[in-house]
Amino acid sequence: MMQLLNKANFLNINDLDDDSISRLITLAEAFKNDHKQVHLKRPVYAANLFFENSTRTHSSFQMAEKKLGIDLIEINPATSSVKKGESLGDTIKTLQAIGVDMTVIRHAHTGWYQQLQSDANINLSLVNAGDGSGQHPSQTLLDLMTIHDEFGQFNGLNIGIIGDLAHSRVARSDAEILHRLGVNVYFSGPREWYPADFDQFGTYCDVDEMLPNLDVVMLLRVQLERLNQNAVASFTPTEYYQTYGLSEERSRRMKSNAIIMHPAPVNRGVEIASSLVEAPQSRIFTQMRNGVFARMAILTTLLSQRGLLEE
Ligand code: CP
Repeated sequence: MMQLLNKANFLNINDLDDDSISRLITLAEAFKNDHKQVHLKRPVYAANLFFENSTRTHSSFQMAEKKLGIDLIEINPATSSVKKGESLGDTIKTLQAIGVDMTVIRHAHTGWYQQLQSDANINLSLVNAGDGSGQHPSQTLLDLMTIHDEFGQFNGLNIGIIGDLAHSRVARSDAEILHRLGVNVYFSGPREWYPADFDQFGTYCDVDEMLPNLDVVMLLRVQLERLNQNAVASFTPTEYYQTYGLSEERSRRMKSNAIIMHPAPVNRGVEIASSLVEAPQSRIFTQMRNGVFARMAILTTLLSQRGLLEE
């Protein structure tokens, strides 16, 4: 099994080399095709801490953990001692003290893990389920798996990421690795939500110009929860849809074998026409299904690194 990171953490997929990413995709595929079974050496305990809302990532990590035979310690941040002022670091050390082996954390603070990963007193595995506008590494792995399933490789593909790029951890996580894997990455969406440093990963284009050349049209939700009050007040869903949304008319200008992706949750009729969410070219629910297998691959690799798997 590969080494993911020192101390068996999974925090930023862009820290992994190409070979490790390829092996994670292969392992996820093996779970998907029922080729892979794992056996734990002893009972393993995980705690999932979601300080921000989640449907997919939370339930899909839970499903992955259950399928791998990992016992879950239920902890709800809203009713935990975090509300009494306990720090994230002390919460993690508490879970470790009671015998938790791994914790999956989503937190609004971008880079919540940066100091914790070098804390010599933290030895349980930290898994990043999304940090603010930073990274969303398990989403990126399931996106890579979905693209690989479809096209068999990455080099030379044209992928457009359209929407609220500034606030999207999916955009940042995906764009960097896709660029490294040889994808031609294009961006579109409101200019004010285009971070200048994305120029290192791809090219900003008009949505209508790039659509006919894309193999993957990846749409993003507008992250209203991360916008200031003025931006929320001036946001007009109808205008956004007309300017950047994937309408049926725009979809007719896509290549015949191009696919539609979206990390979800979807705001139907804002970034995408409702009728396209479950259209034949959409892989949105396939992404969610792949998410369970991608997360099984991540957790299995960490278990292996911790010496908890019968190989
Ligand atoms: N794609 C994603 O992260 O969805 P959730 O916010 O529902 O977990």
